[in-house]
Amino acid sequence: MSNSTRRTFMVQTGLGLAALGSMELVLSACAQPTMGTVSGEEANRVLIQMGAVPKDGAPAKGVLKPTTPLSSGPFFRPGAPFRGKLSLPGEPGTTFVLSGRVWALDTKRPLPGTVLDFWNVDMNGKYSDGVTDFRNRGRLVSSETGYYELESIRPIPYRTNPGESPEYWRCAHFHLVAVCPGYKSLVTEIHFVGDVHKSDSMYRPENAIAPEKHTVNGASFESGVFDIVLERDSASS
Ligand SMILES: [Fe+2]
Repeated sequence: MSNSTRRTFMVQTGLGLAALGSMELVLSACAQPTMGTVSGEEANRVLIQMGAVPKDGAPAKGVLKPTTPLSSGPFFRPGAPFRGKLSLPGEPGTTFVLSGRVWALDTKRPLPGTVLDFWNVDMNGKYSDGVTDFRNRGRLVSSETGYYELESIRPIPYRTNPGESPEYWRCAHFHLVAVCPGYKSLVTEIHFVGDVHKSDSMYRPENAIAPEKHTVNGASFESGVFDIVLERDSASS
């Protein structure tokens, strides 16, 4: 990028941001608003589109059941970054694209604006600390059609009592917290069909996804779909 092009780029992207100290960012007086908007159609093209990406707010087909809750465990950390890619470039493991929709049990309609907080272990069976290291943690907001999509690595089973007997293994899982105004917050886990540790007492078949394998442009990854159904919070109405 030439110097003139670089200057133009910085002006056009409003990089009149000036850092004050190490903790604070303020907008400089010469900053300009970012021009242009992205239409819904253009936004949809940005999605990876693993399958039938919903484009409307039509009611759910079939019967909805509230998603089975599970405890959050000891490794939830508040304040994960908002992003669709939870793992770092080069993170060891199988790249995994998780997607789905958030639904309201009462209206059978999609729930936009739901904050979804995900976290999962790395290939050592460890969680990032969620303070200085947010690997495999992230928050997303469901779209106008209740849709969400993230990329992480496929979590592996992990042992909770190394060195002790008998061994206790957790089945592989994504953790999830879903929060939507007017609806009961949900804490749960997403499991995998055929997990070698499905004897784990926490394993819930109704929360298990069936991964699919893909190869695109020589890159292999897996995907899974998990819909989330929230119940109306009568106390908030
Ligand atoms: Fe866990």
